[in-house]
Amino acid sequence: MAGSLADKINKLRKERKAVILAHNYQRPEVQDIADYVGDSLGLSIQAAKTKADVIVFCGVHFMAETAAIISPNKKVFMPDPNAGCPMAEMIDVPRLLNLKAGYPKAKVVCYVNSSAEIKAESDICCTSANAVKIVQSIKDADEIIFVPDKYLGSYVASKVKDKKVILWQGFCPTHANILPEHILAAKKLHPQAKVIVHPECRPETIALADAALSTEGMLKFARETGAKEIIVGTETGMIYRLQKENPGKSFYPVFDRAICPNMKLTTLEKILWSLEDLKTEVKVPKEIADRARSAIEKMLAVGRQD
Ligand code: 13P
Ligand code: SF4
Repeated sequence: MAGSLADKINKLRKERKAVILAHNYQRPEVQDIADYVGDSLGLSIQAAKTKADVIVFCGVHFMAETAAIISPNKKVFMPDPNAGCPMAEMIDVPRLLNLKAGYPKAKVVCYVNSSAEIKAESDICCTSANAVKIVQSIKDADEIIFVPDKYLGSYVASKVKDKKVILWQGFCPTHANILPEHILAAKKLHPQAKVIVHPECRPETIALADAALSTEGMLKFARETGAKEIIVGTETGMIYRLQKENPGKSFYPVFDRAICPNMKLTTLEKILWSLEDLKTEVKVPKEIADRARSAIEKMLAVGRQD
């Protein structure tokens, strides 16, 4: 069944001149059919440089929207357009404008996990792979409004001491569920293991880890470390690629219920249907896309830190 589905997807992908991009948290079979699998930053870079006419984006809405903004001449489809990110829903433009009015000299850094409208009101975008570097790159402001992730923002504030970081109070429900007690229990079971976590985790969880890394940063860490066992504090979909690319090493989730339900909405069937029907296009109004593009392009110029 999966074979024939894959065959149909492969045939249509060629006919439509489509590229399939997938986030590291996607289901294994979705990762396996993708042309490129990566973190938010890697996926944005791929979307910007692909020569394909059509992008099938297997991830959540803000990722597909970012691809549509930086590639206005390509068509971007989501296999399941209901795949949102609850953190991105925790902020809206009127409340952001209100906060900006209280800090007229501050620059706004928005985590890529935000809507196009929020990006349009921001000075520069960031992902978990470059948040510290992005804030450090801002030379003309001492105050930074960081939205919407309070945990990534407080991680950045702990690394950039010469700026005041004003935090929006958003968070990722999946990562907020990964607690220090889960790390302590995993370390008891695997005392030789290194611990890596995503910077969307709580500060007290990050404090117990050897490193806080984006999902692509985790893959680099896994490749380069001498450790044979690694405890991983992020969405559990991450384990599939870590294990596939490092067969000689063992990976254990810190918390096996750290699942992002939205990331799991994409299936092979939905990828096929999106290529067949071309109905689930992600569109951003031009006026918003033009303003949001500036924040994303500034980020892409700074590049990766991990
Ligand atoms: P990465 O950019 O590190 O892949 O993270 C995206 C995300 O949504 C994490 O929850
Ligand atoms: Fe959003 Fe969290 Fe899911 Fe990432 S894991 S897409 S931040 S809800």
